[in-house]
Amino acid sequence: MAIRTVETVPYPDQKPGTSGLRKRVPVFQQPNYVANFVQSYFDCLEGGAGKLLVIGGDGRFFNQEAIQIVLKMAAANGFGRVMVGQNGYLSTPAVSHLIRKNKALGGFILSASHNPGGPHGDFGIKYNVEHGGPAPESLTDAVFARSKVIDRYKIAEAPDVDLSAIGTSQIEGMAVEIVDPVDAYAAYMETLIDFGAVRLLFASGFRMRFDAMHAITGPYAKRIFEEMLGAPSGSVINAVPSPTFNDGHPDPNLVHAKPLYDLMMSASAPDFGAASDGDGDRNLIIGRNRFVTPSDSLAILAANAHLAPGYAGGIAGVARSMPTSSAADHVAEQLGIEIHETPTGWKFFANLLDAGRVTICGEESAGTGSNHVREKDGVWAVLLWLNILAARRESVDQIVVNHWKRFGRNYYTRHDFEEVEMEAAKAVMARFEGAFGGLAGQTLGGRTVSLADNFTYHDPIDGSTSANQGLRIVFADGSRIILRMSGTGTVGATLRLYVERFVGPDGDHELETQAALADLIALADDLAGIRELTGRDAPSVIT
Ligand code: G1P
Ligand code: ZN
Repeated sequence: MAIRTVETVPYPDQKPGTSGLRKRVPVFQQPNYVANFVQSYFDCLEGGAGKLLVIGGDGRFFNQEAIQIVLKMAAANGFGRVMVGQNGYLSTPAVSHLIRKNKALGGFILSASHNPGGPHGDFGIKYNVEHGGPAPESLTDAVFARSKVIDRYKIAEAPDVDLSAIGTSQIEGMAVEIVDPVDAYAAYMETLIDFGAVRLLFASGFRMRFDAMHAITGPYAKRIFEEMLGAPSGSVINAVPSPTFNDGHPDPNLVHAKPLYDLMMSASAPDFGAASDGDGDRNLIIGRNRFVTPSDSLAILAANAHLAPGYAGGIAGVARSMPTSSAADHVAEQLGIEIHETPTGWKFFANLLDAGRVTICGEESAGTGSNHVREKDGVWAVLLWLNILAARRESVDQIVVNHWKRFGRNYYTRHDFEEVEMEAAKAVMARFEGAFGGLAGQTLGGRTVSLADNFTYHDPIDGSTSANQGLRIVFADGSRIILRMSGTGTVGATLRLYVERFVGPDGDHELETQAALADLIALADDLAGIRELTGRDAPSVIT
């Protein structure tokens, strides 16, 4: 066995986005494609010698092949030890936890989150740094620059590691530790959540359905909900990770998790329904006859977190991405705690969490998390909901309705226009922004505009500035219209339109969402020309 230096030529397209490098599987299968990208990281990381690296993925097609390459390259690049989830499995939050718990230099996550998998689906590689969260832009920029000039990489000539066998082996003096993907994570959850109370809840006849969508949370959910908390066997469905996600989209939204939604709206609904995505960082929460929007879920978790042992002392503050509804702001205001509005993407929360300024954070795109890791965490969110349900002994519906009575309701919707021509999408953005001049102070559709801008974030911790983070019109009554281009789509452009309207504690909370927002949606189309410029009559997905 030996360490080999392989000559290579750069690929021009290895720019890691908000969620790492994400491309179709055949792109990753090109010669040296994975190796170039991984070596670009190793060339930019300082102090890897002798350190620990965590590696795992969501089980999608090409997961194990990519892991074997990363393992052999880590050995050749001088790492002392790697920790890999058995069968190559680790959820994104579990990677974040293992990095923090074991003081690793960082970790590679092999996943394309909620995007479809299989030989023609998507694959992705993301690197998380020592605090457990996604690499900051300074690092991903450096990696991209490196990838454009890379001319060699180092790899150990070694046989593949048996990823199915728990235990430790060696590659060129580097220890390869295959660990159970669930053990450490489950033990950690037990310190944050009142497992005793949730056990009693299930023992009292409470029923849940958790849809793992043939993705990574299956093993976590089976162990924690069924084995540790006593949910009846069969409560967790689609629990075996599949390389193709059983030909589905592991996206817990109302399109791809429709069977769960239909069940929860039916006469045979259990008390609680939930789902998670490909890599286990997102969550969907549905009560019997009550869908909980992710923005509301964030606000409800923030308002009730003190009921769980991990947050018994109260929370320091809440952070939400700019397009996420302002429901959490109303909670922060009443609790007298900080609220922060950050750009889309989890990495912006890390500084606030590290500084102890916020405890809970979340995004409208079904991501909620806390200071326990530096990623959003689907299973954690479901556990915190269970803890709250166990403590309050109210239904999901009662908890939501009572929340609105106390804090008011933010009607909220997101319309996605997927696979739009890039030029058309840019034209829509340009037309919308073009309408902003002199808008502040004017009245539009009976509402006074208080702000129309392209959101710029000033990080209060490190002083950095992130411009161009989405176009928004904010009205004096709390309504908002937001338009931005997705940073995670892989084909053409995805336009996201977010619309919100606030109705106070005494207002009508039982309107149909799209109807409640119809005038704002029409106004958005008027100003941005979405239908006209894209030729689309309707969004691809409404959430
Ligand atoms: C989407 C979501 C965003 C999330 C990201 C990664 O990004 O909108 O909230 O952080 O996926 O999961 P987008 O495609 O909108 O750029
Ligand atoms: Zn995800």
